[in-house]
Amino acid sequence: MDFTRVELGNLSSSNFPIAVFCTASIIILVAVHFFYCNFSSRGKLVNKFGGPAYVPVIGSFIALTNLAETLLDWKEQINFLAGENPTLADAFHRGARIAFMPGVIPKYQSSLIWSLSGYAKEWEEIKIVMKQSISKSFIQKKMKEWKNNANNGNLPKKIKYANILYTKWTDEEEIFYQLISIIGASVDSTESVLCMALLHLAKHPVIQETAYEEAKSVIGTDINVFLSFDDIRRLTYVEMVLKETMRIIPPIAALARNIGQDLDLGDGYTIPKDTSVFINLNMMHHNPKYFPNPDQFIPERFLPENVGKRHPYAYIPFSHGPRNCIGKKYAMMEMKLALAKILFKYEVTTSMRNIENLEYESSPFTFAKDDKWKNQRKILSPGLSASMHPEFLTAFHTHLPNLMEVLEEKCKIGGEFNPDNLFGKFAMGVAFETMFDWDVPLNFFQHDLALQYDMFVNGTYAAFQPAIQPKFQIPLMWRFFGYGAGFQKLVNFMEIYFPKEFLKGKMDEWKSYEKNAALPKRMKYANLLYTKWTKEELVTCQLYTILTGAVDSTDSVLCVALIQLAKFKEVQTNAYLEARRVIGLDYDNTLSIADINKLKYIEMVIKESMRRISPTPVLTRKVGEDLNLG
Ligand code: HEM
Repeated sequence: MDFTRVELGNLSSSNFPIAVFCTASIIILVAVHFFYCNFSSRGKLVNKFGGPAYVPVIGSFIALTNLAETLLDWKEQINFLAGENPTLADAFHRGARIAFMPGVIPKYQSSLIWSLSGYAKEWEEIKIVMKQSISKSFIQKKMKEWKNNANNGNLPKKIKYANILYTKWTDEEEIFYQLISIIGASVDSTESVLCMALLHLAKHPVIQETAYEEAKSVIGTDINVFLSFDDIRRLTYVEMVLKETMRIIPPIAALARNIGQDLDLGDGYTIPKDTSVFINLNMMHHNPKYFPNPDQFIPERFLPENVGKRHPYAYIPFSHGPRNCIGKKYAMMEMKLALAKILFKYEVTTSMRNIENLEYESSPFTFAKDDKWKNQRKILSPGLSASMHPEFLTAFHTHLPNLMEVLEEKCKIGGEFNPDNLFGKFAMGVAFETMFDWDVPLNFFQHDLALQYDMFVNGTYAAFQPAIQPKFQIPLMWRFFGYGAGFQKLVNFMEIYFPKEFLKGKMDEWKSYEKNAALPKRMKYANLLYTKWTKEELVTCQLYTILTGAVDSTDSVLCVALIQLAKFKEVQTNAYLEARRVIGLDYDNTLSIADINKLKYIEMVIKESMRRISPTPVLTRKVGEDLNLG
């Protein structure tokens, strides 16, 4: 999806968005029973909407409903909040999810892998749904209507954006992409902020009361009142609440830039031209130098006198510079109105105990820190040292025919060869035998096991969402967006293969070897895993970590390497000749460690594949003490 920049009309000169919003606000209030916080209505409607429900829909449906009418001149008035056209709403949500996959998993930046993976197909299906709703004939009709208006000199003052959109482009396809770009950019972001603001207000009744009092003073007595721009400007505390929400959980966690020319940072530091820079908004917004007690929700940080004391770029949820968010003002206006009207009508409460500490506590992974992490690593790393190689080779050769069978089968069929998620199944089978002391070789290419492997992949994707979108660091949010269910698949996978009794059996077995001084020399990793921890749950944590770390990464590198080799024939020939030299004439020859060390060119191919498309997009570190870069 290409986000191309369009000039956004001067919204501040029109009252139209407000008019639409005021109509939409009625719908919002009707839909509010979907809320996951408990709502108790102010005034007479006591407890009408009580009970837990589902908030994320609110923000996104407000955004969709508003956007369709205010920017796009979508007269059909689709009421997404009332569940009209759920297929289109779903298409936007799914579209937003997969459009960002290449940023999260770099292998999907390869158009070939993207097209071979299920995502390209899914994206095409989504586009079909979108094109049915935003059809060519609809766009043509709009273009004609707006061009006629322009020619007749009676261009309506309202809907400046639609005016520009439908008159400045001549190609319907271009307009279609502009439409879905703007919808894609606006819906999820607005939704995230509104939903998080309400959650924080539910947690902080005093702040909520202040925001409510302000909303009341601006709205008066009638929820349906039409607010003017001046009214909206008066919602200063509500604005601070939204800003603090975007500080604590920025809807867009990071920005990426390629530096076009040498950038002088002062103090003798220069970022050289062509450097790729990754700007972690989430971390910047939690910098205690600018935001003391960064985990606390304090809207007063955005009082003008406090803002004036900070570096102007310490807080940039909408980014900054020429490629910043084009819809910044629109978003703020929409969110202020929505929040004020919701607070005017409802009081929100929540039973969630801890939302300030955004540590991802429910994770089963060993995201241990400091000494705990150092100790765990010290214990397990010898298990992955050279001493495991012989058993690795045995397992590798046991599993190789499974991989080859699949490769040959695919070639026979003559269909497009899809290396995506192929090597992961192979790597998984090898890991089970070499690292976990698994007795029977597991062929994850077989139908039932392949389904279980898919459970593992889906679950891993869900598990890493909190690192991609900060709002998912709150377990409740993560669950509501379906990732809890996704992650459950990973848990189920682990329970199938590593139930507590199995682990207990293994731990007893390996501890008895140790006691009898009969510790086998092989399987160093299994030996450490099953003897150094006393509780099964702790072993499970290690298993989660090592499996998710080992499988997808290897899969990605081999998949990229094969695609590169297919593209660069000469490189493939060189790699082939080296393989022939080392393996000899008999393909079934078992290679030794010394043989593998001879595969120098193939090693370079793998390294170059990892350089070309790194399996892990970025690394983050918190610098513990001043780091002199010289
Ligand atoms: C809370 C709500 C929102 C936040 C936090 C937000 C944030 C952002 C950020 C950080 C960027 C990336 C800029 C960069 O790479 O430096 C962006 C781009 C963009 N946003 Fe927003 N946004 C929000 C709402 C909206 C709305 C409501 C619209 C449309 C009405 C919109 C339209 C866009 C567009 C079209 C781009 C791409 C701009 C370009 O590439 O030139 N956004 N937004």
